[in-house]
Amino acid sequence: MSFIVAIDGPAGAGKGTITKLVGEKLGLVNIDTGATFRCVALNMLQEHIDIQEEEKIEKMLNNINIEMHTDGKIFLNGEDVTHRIRENDVNGLVSPVSTLPVVRNKLLEVQRNIAKGKNVIMEGRDIGTVVFPNADVKIYLDAAAEERARRRVLQNQEKGIESSYEEVLKGIKDRDKRDSTREIAPLKKAEDAIYVDSTNLSIEQVVNQIVKIIENNKK
Ligand code: DC
Repeated sequence: MSFIVAIDGPAGAGKGTITKLVGEKLGLVNIDTGATFRCVALNMLQEHIDIQEEEKIEKMLNNINIEMHTDGKIFLNGEDVTHRIRENDVNGLVSPVSTLPVVRNKLLEVQRNIAKGKNVIMEGRDIGTVVFPNADVKIYLDAAAEERARRRVLQNQEKGIESSYEEVLKGIKDRDKRDSTREIAPLKKAEDAIYVDSTNLSIEQVVNQIVKIIENNKK
């Protein structure tokens, strides 16, 4: 039997940071499902497969091997791609790739298998609605688009990348729209998910709030 915490929400709400910290505090394996979509996008770039080429994508997916190690490293077909999947070319392709039914079906199986027999905290867009509709605890982590853009600009500055607030905000709004209006598994709060708004909270406050929610919901 495994214990499953699902954390869904839009890009930039802090899911990655929060999931990692909560996982460490409670001894839960942290699974970032966005990374699985990023691996598929990277594999398409490596094999020069276009988003239109459904048959080639299907064939590629039949041979794909994605591993998530407990130290946070991600391997695609045996190669360490932990950093590579965060680069710009992958950022540009991943959202459209994540709308393809063939990709979502395959990754559903991959994501369920990764969690098998483990106590996990899994973050994504459709974990509480599609991947694990019977998760023990479901959280929807949100923040105002303006705040998410502000955080992203700061993160970029730390990495030495200059970016304009207006452009980043537009990118976030476009991505929200695409992620929440796509036909399959759109981003939406599960009816039984607990809504957490991180707009005016520090990382520590969000972590404490979520830890409390999980502890109160442990059966
Ligand atoms: O969380 P992220 O930015 O790494 O996610 C990358 C893309 O994958 C994002 O555009 C939405 C998509 N995604 C998804 O459709 N379903 C998930 N469970 C996780 C991510």
